[in-house]
Amino acid sequence: TKVVADTGDIEAIRQYQPVDATTNPSLILKAAALPDYQPLLKESIEWAQAQGEEDIAALACDWLTVNIGKAILDVVPGLVSTEVDARLSFDTEATVKKAQKIIELYRSIGVDTDRVLIKIASTWEGIRAAETLEQQGIRCNLTLLFSFAQAKACADAGVYLISPFVGRIMDWYKASQGVERFAPEEDPGVLSVSKIYNYYKQNGFKTVVMGASFRNIDEIRQLAGCDCLTIAPPLLDELSNSKEPLAHKLQKPFEISDRQPEAITES
Ligand code: E4P
Repeated sequence: TKVVADTGDIEAIRQYQPVDATTNPSLILKAAALPDYQPLLKESIEWAQAQGEEDIAALACDWLTVNIGKAILDVVPGLVSTEVDARLSFDTEATVKKAQKIIELYRSIGVDTDRVLIKIASTWEGIRAAETLEQQGIRCNLTLLFSFAQAKACADAGVYLISPFVGRIMDWYKASQGVERFAPEEDPGVLSVSKIYNYYKQNGFKTVVMGASFRNIDEIRQLAGCDCLTIAPPLLDELSNSKEPLAHKLQKPFEISDRQPEAITES
């Protein structure tokens, strides 16, 4: 299992030494307030103003996102995921354009773009955009993925990586079904990821499975053995309370059966 940090916080990335990191617009916004990034924040506005275009805020935002991505790449040995604004999630063409723009910006600051994954919501339109981008050699991380159908469509489209969510599935059970908890091995988010993982492996799909959106370390432990797990710093902290390297703790054969979450809710 590859340990991935789900954060833009460079200090946390230095501390936990993940292989890769994932960001999204809210993580970038949070990171932008950190002292480490204050010089970049100022530069982003100056850079955007110098472009002579109208939407200075949007330009500054793109520049900052990409420069935070570069700062992360200077610390991790692997990949960084940079997300396309979710407001474009239902527009294939706009998503492709935005992804190409992000890649161009990375290139303009000397980043090896083979180390960048473009994160895109797993809507039908997003999956079509990813299919086009993958054909152009731009690797994608399909996020906001909650169902087997989305995962199947992503694999068929040849995307490099998917981020099936765990915690947000449980969030839904809590909010709309009044369910407080499941046993860790019966957590519907965990079962969703395991079903997808097992299907991919059994059918020879190369798309990487990265469990995401964790709410507690039980969920993470259940999914040890998955290709990658992206974990926020507070949970990395909880998991790190021993000398054994984190990646070793998460190495085990993937043992979870592919029971359906629906069956669990009935019990
Ligand atoms: C990963 O792709 C996402 O950024 C993240 O795991 C989402 O987690 P959340 O459900 O806590 O927002």
